[in-house]
Amino acid sequence: MGIKISDFGTLPDGRKAKLFTLANTHGMTIEVTDYGATLVAAVVPDAQGKSEDVILGYADVVDYTRFDGYLGAIIGRNGNRIGGASFMINGKKYQMEANENGNNLHSGPHGFDQVIWKAETDEQALSVSFTHHSPDGDEGFPGNFDVTVTYTLTENNEIRIDYRGVCDQDTVANMTNHSYFNLDGHDSGSILDHTLWLDADAITAVDAECIPTGELRPVEGTPFDFRKAKRIGDEIDADDEQIRMGGGYDHNFALRAGEGIRKIGEVVGGRSGRKMEVLTDCVGVQFYAGNFMDESSISKDGTPYHRRGGLCLETQFYPDAVNHENFASPILKAGETYHTTTIYRFS
Ligand code: BGC
Repeated sequence: MGIKISDFGTLPDGRKAKLFTLANTHGMTIEVTDYGATLVAAVVPDAQGKSEDVILGYADVVDYTRFDGYLGAIIGRNGNRIGGASFMINGKKYQMEANENGNNLHSGPHGFDQVIWKAETDEQALSVSFTHHSPDGDEGFPGNFDVTVTYTLTENNEIRIDYRGVCDQDTVANMTNHSYFNLDGHDSGSILDHTLWLDADAITAVDAECIPTGELRPVEGTPFDFRKAKRIGDEIDADDEQIRMGGGYDHNFALRAGEGIRKIGEVVGGRSGRKMEVLTDCVGVQFYAGNFMDESSISKDGTPYHRRGGLCLETQFYPDAVNHENFASPILKAGETYHTTTIYRFS
């Protein structure tokens, strides 16, 4: 058990990254880097005691700048899309950089995923806390926002992520983690044989640019019904309007309401039987099946990743929530504390 710190390479602009390796006493290890406060690896035993790394990632920080896809990164201040790359707070319009079809995705080209965060380890808690000061106007958002993201590796083989922030003006606070999971091993091929359960009765229906229309569409009778565990590949290419919009699953699931942190999802690897449960206090989760991945990115083992080689379960407010009055609001009031928790539990 313990925390080890090592070098993780140098960025083209000279900034150096560090890698933090956390090991518990139950055979589980995780690696996180201060670049993007990114989860790089999670080595997890299966029922037979065979360990695999279930997180897609790269061997060196430079690869995180060469390949896109936000692998393992913390996304902020806002995860997912903001339509028209603009929004209003207190009657004032704010404009962000448009980086996808005139919209904003993952807070634009200079997001939290590219920051070198300040790191502090806690051996006792088996955690690393990353802090960052996002100045007024950063990414187009109002206010000075001070953020902390804490990764804790528990003795229950859980990765617990706590997101905290305080701002001196009303702003948008909606952070998430963009890890791609493959429970059979990060470079073991497609996730289509994984089964998924999600505690959601509806998705936020989207238009052709993946921006929510505002409609909460029931999953009943659609390929989006994961209320009974289902093989992901079964309906991922179904003849369905919403499936076409996302090129497969790339949708926000409106989670059933619940008090505090509750279990909202479960994924099981098709070959390994390795299981991951997802717990959160967030209202939504983006299930992205890696539809836009291709062979251009080279994994930490030197092999290319493939389309649908990993899946993301990004806990968050609904996409474009800042522009929809019927969605829970991602606006953080000045001086108040933003705090959300997501747990990925392996067994
Ligand atoms: C989005 C996808 C996008 C991916 C990588 C996901 O959160 O929903 O549409 O391709 O991030 O950028």
